[in-house]
Amino acid sequence: MIEDEYKVRLIFDEELDAAAELSAAVFGDQGYSRRDFFEAVKGGNALVLGIFSREDMSIKGYGVFYHSADQAEINSLAIAADQRRKGLGTFLLKKAAGILKEGGAKKLFLEVRRSNEGAIKFYERHRFLMSDVRRNFYDSPKEDALVMVKVLKL
Ligand SMILES: CC(C)(COP(=O)(O)OP(=O)(O)OC[C@H]1O[C@@H](n2cnc3c(N)ncnc32)[C@H](O)[C@@H]1OP(=O)(O)O)[C@@H](O)C(=O)NCCC(=O)NCCS
Repeated sequence: MIEDEYKVRLIFDEELDAAAELSAAVFGDQGYSRRDFFEAVKGGNALVLGIFSREDMSIKGYGVFYHSADQAEINSLAIAADQRRKGLGTFLLKKAAGILKEGGAKKLFLEVRRSNEGAIKFYERHRFLMSDVRRNFYDSPKEDALVMVKVLKL
């Protein structure tokens, strides 16, 4: 069982460097920096979760989620490249969706690069539906964002 090997929980201050390192490895300079994580953690309206190996508590992925009234969004989500397709992203997303739902969120939104086929497949697998296209939303390289949304059922 994945729960036996991994734990999803809030990221502690002393883990922010490791989280930023992971984000940079996945997204380069468009990732979450230590300061971005710090501000999200301290800001109060973000849910900043990590997924950790129970063996040594090393971080294997993270998600930053914002929640306001009945809507929530995934601001950043990543699993370390060598840890993918093992169900970690699913474990993290399900935990986050449960917490957001309990907090009153009814819909969960995200933006994803049009070319990010793996992530789009991942979200489709989790019943996110295509909702909109934001033209040239991203820089370096310029690219459209697909907006996807999932209804968080009670
Ligand atoms: C998207 C991401 C978070 C998925 O994490 P993950 O731990 O690999 O996902 P899971 O193992 O839980 O995958 C669950 C299912 O999603 C689908 N899926 C996940 N990654 C996929 C890929 N690259 N290609 C096709 N389908 C994929 C599959 O149906 C998979 O089930 P399967 O492995 O039994 O076929 C991870 O690939 C990632 O960090 N990508 C880089 C960062 C990124 O793009 N983040 C999202 C930006 S919006």
